Amino acid sequence: MPERMSTTIVNDVLRGGGDRFVYLVSAMAALNGLLFGFDTGIISGAILFINDTFPAVENSALIEGIVVSGAMAGAATGAALGGRLADRIGRRRLIMLSAVVFFLGSFLMAVAPTVEILVAGRLIDGVAIGFASVVGPLYISEIAPPRIRGGLTSMHQLMVTIGILSSYFVNYAFSGSGAWRWMLGAGMIPAVVLGIGVLKMPESPRWLYSHGKPDRARAVLRRTRQGDIEQELGEIKETVERESGTSLTKLLEPWLRPALVVGVGLAILQQITGINAVMYYAPTILESTGFGSAASILATVGIGVVNVVMTVVAIAYIDRVGRRALLLVGTAGMTVTLAILGVIFYLPGLSGVLSITATVCLMLYISFFAIGLGPVFWLLISEIYPLAVRGSAEGVATVTNWLANLAVALSFPILTANIGPSSTFWLFGVFSAVAFAFTFKLVPETKGRTLEAIENDLRENVGVGD
Ligand code: BGC
Repeated sequence: MPERMSTTIVNDVLRGGGDRFVYLVSAMAALNGLLFGFDTGIISGAILFINDTFPAVENSALIEGIVVSGAMAGAATGAALGGRLADRIGRRRLIMLSAVVFFLGSFLMAVAPTVEILVAGRLIDGVAIGFASVVGPLYISEIAPPRIRGGLTSMHQLMVTIGILSSYFVNYAFSGSGAWRWMLGAGMIPAVVLGIGVLKMPESPRWLYSHGKPDRARAVLRRTRQGDIEQELGEIKETVERESGTSLTKLLEPWLRPALVVGVGLAILQQITGINAVMYYAPTILESTGFGSAASILATVGIGVVNVVMTVVAIAYIDRVGRRALLLVGTAGMTVTLAILGVIFYLPGLSGVLSITATVCLMLYISFFAIGLGPVFWLLISEIYPLAVRGSAEGVATVTNWLANLAVALSFPILTANIGPSSTFWLFGVFSAVAFAFTFKLVPETKGRTLEAIENDLRENVGVGD
């Protein structure tokens, strides 16, 4: 019996049991997620005041676009490099590097005397976001005991949502003074905490073993497991011995294809179902339902809070009901709420009851994302790949996710202007229905199993229903 069905990370923490050390290092690694969320959310507020300092940004939609989406382009690059780096230099050193790069990027943005330096800072910050999005979930999934791996790894997504929410607050706090340099510079604080924290974090036992350091791998397992470590060590040993050859050539082997399809498919679906259209444009959407600006900004904070709270709910259930169930409920719920949003925006003259219904639907949509595609995507891509290619394969899925994110962020204003908001919501709804079908047919259940057992199933070509 690989897991105790009723045990979740939340229960463990409440009872004071579980392995405090694993929780601690996982929370520290999840700061990568906090920086990811904060640095992607902060620009929406900062850009309003950057425009005042640099007329070049104000006068050119292109330059403004580059300042805003520069971080996403940087993140795609960082994720592309990060996957290989995680396999080469190790998970821990990459976390260290990401903390340093985060710090540099935030510092450069805060002091930027020219637009060029500001853009350079955004790009550098983006590279760090890319590193963080690959290595955060990867590290936690490899250090965590299988029984609570889902909940622990999803702390990454929880921190992403907390990062986004704190960026809304920081934006709000500095909005009176317009101090955009402080908004962007605030990212240096978690970067320093991560940089110091990582010194206390052990390297992933799986990476150590596969890089010829079995004794250190054993020592880390002993520190992070409560019971017998021999079985897990044996499984790691077996996988490492079986796998040789370089990562990139391995990635193309046919037996890996189902896992690649799942990772890349979910990466695209997580974005084209519209989450960031809502996260980045919420105030605009809400204003168009008839709310004033103040009410829209307040409701946007509400959306951020719902995102955090529902991610906590997901963490409580992910190791109990499993990844597939959460994804299925989440994508079904997103489909229904988006369909209703499409109808509301289709009706002429939004007001009163309808604006409230639209806001409730947006909140429900975020809730369904937060229990499904939000955390489960990041979790699955850190679980379903074999050790020899895990960093690189996760990098491929993460790059795809950032590129899809960029595509949606750039095309949302164009779509709403051309086909209107209601058809845009329906389009996202259709993609959510596709995500449901995709999960139903292709996504495997990984709850409670060791990473090595998941890999064996892939080798033996065990389907989702078996
Ligand atoms: C997604 C981000 C999104 C965030 C919202 C993450 O899982 O990858 O693109 O902004 O969730 O909570």
